Amino acid sequence: MFGFGRKGETGDWVDLKSQPVPEGRHLLEVDDLKMFFHTQDGVVKAVNGVSYTLDRGETLGVVGESGSGKSVTSLTIMGLIDMPPGRIEGGDVLYRGRSLLAMSEEEMEHIRGNDIAMIFQDPMTSLNPVYTIGRQLSEGMMLHLGYNRQQALQRSVELLRMVGIPNAEQRVKGYPHELSGGMRQRVMIAMALACDPDILIADEPTTALDVTIQAQIIELMQEMQEKNGNAIIMITHDLGVVADIADKIMVMYAGQPVEFGTADEIFYSPIHPYTWGLTRSIPDPIMDEKKPLTPIKGNPPSLVSTALGCAFAPRCPYATDRCRSERPPTHVTGTGHYARCHFAHDAAFVAANAPATSRTKGRPERVAEAVTRHAEGGEAS
Ligand SMILES: Nc1ncnc2c1ncn2[C@@H]1O[C@H](COP(=O)(O)OP(=O)(O)O)[C@@H](O)[C@H]1O
Ligand code: SF4
Ligand SMILES: [Mg+2]
Repeated sequence: MFGFGRKGETGDWVDLKSQPVPEGRHLLEVDDLKMFFHTQDGVVKAVNGVSYTLDRGETLGVVGESGSGKSVTSLTIMGLIDMPPGRIEGGDVLYRGRSLLAMSEEEMEHIRGNDIAMIFQDPMTSLNPVYTIGRQLSEGMMLHLGYNRQQALQRSVELLRMVGIPNAEQRVKGYPHELSGGMRQRVMIAMALACDPDILIADEPTTALDVTIQAQIIELMQEMQEKNGNAIIMITHDLGVVADIADKIMVMYAGQPVEFGTADEIFYSPIHPYTWGLTRSIPDPIMDEKKPLTPIKGNPPSLVSTALGCAFAPRCPYATDRCRSERPPTHVTGTGHYARCHFAHDAAFVAANAPATSRTKGRPERVAEAVTRHAEGGEAS
């Protein structure tokens, strides 16, 4: 059934990234993906029904508080979750129309680095302290691109230059601990870009860095994207980080996407109370910089919880008895913008309670338009 064998007739690997995306499909389609961990303390529902699509040249922002399942979602896509304790409980991940979940470990090894590359949160966990930077950069190129050592080393120097590392010829011979955090993050990006991946997943790549370096790293990834046309998945706990770079945004809460839409939809016409909380907690660049932030009160629920109803109910100011007893369905609009809330279809509720941030201020017609669209949208669960 899955015998699409990605090795060509000569036994060489056929690069999926050079194959066309089949008609009617997307570059990446995540469809109702569920990854649970079976632990002594119970079943941790880390990823519980994640769906989105991504095309070439697009940037998806994945936003949510710590522990909401952002990393596990991406690690599942990359085939990097240990099973057990992890187990895929449902759904699928299609890359260029092919199921990644159905691929062998050998095929996934080829996909990783070559087609889909990931920049991890902490560079020291993925840089090996005992090997030179040049060796670590070269490995993937020798493995996936068939470069010899000399070619790989030359390309490594070019990559280090490209990501803005000074004295690249010297640095390539050095070790990770000789670099600052920002420079190590750049090496990680160079490693991820070495094989020109179709999809670059960046898991909170800038969290540990200061604001100026954050901006430089993001700019760098965007430059690469403009040049290569690759897709980016940017994971962050800070909605503000993806405000200006994401085309689409998925907001996660307790292992579930609670809202997904274009960046415009999420910023100008959000429909989920949790998203409202997040947008309220972004500093307002136009109106009043001294405005106190409004963080969302309370803590996320345990993912082992078997509580009925909406996971956000204990923290939601609009929660009703129904919210506490009945799981909200997914309300999907005509544009594919979706939210999981009992009131998502209620235009009057959304209009009355959505935050009037600077992004919505001055654009009341857009808000009204969007609310009408929501009211007309279908409902699915
Ligand atoms: N190997 C594991 N075993 C059990 N639980 C895990 C494992 N890995 C992650 N989790 C749990 O999955 C949940 C989601 O984690 P994660 O995706 O890392 O969150 P985020 O990246 O949004 O901060 C957390 O509750 C975490 O404790
Ligand atoms: S379903 Fe109820 S508790 Fe959940 S987000 Fe909507 S209003 Fe709040
Ligand atoms: Mg994480």
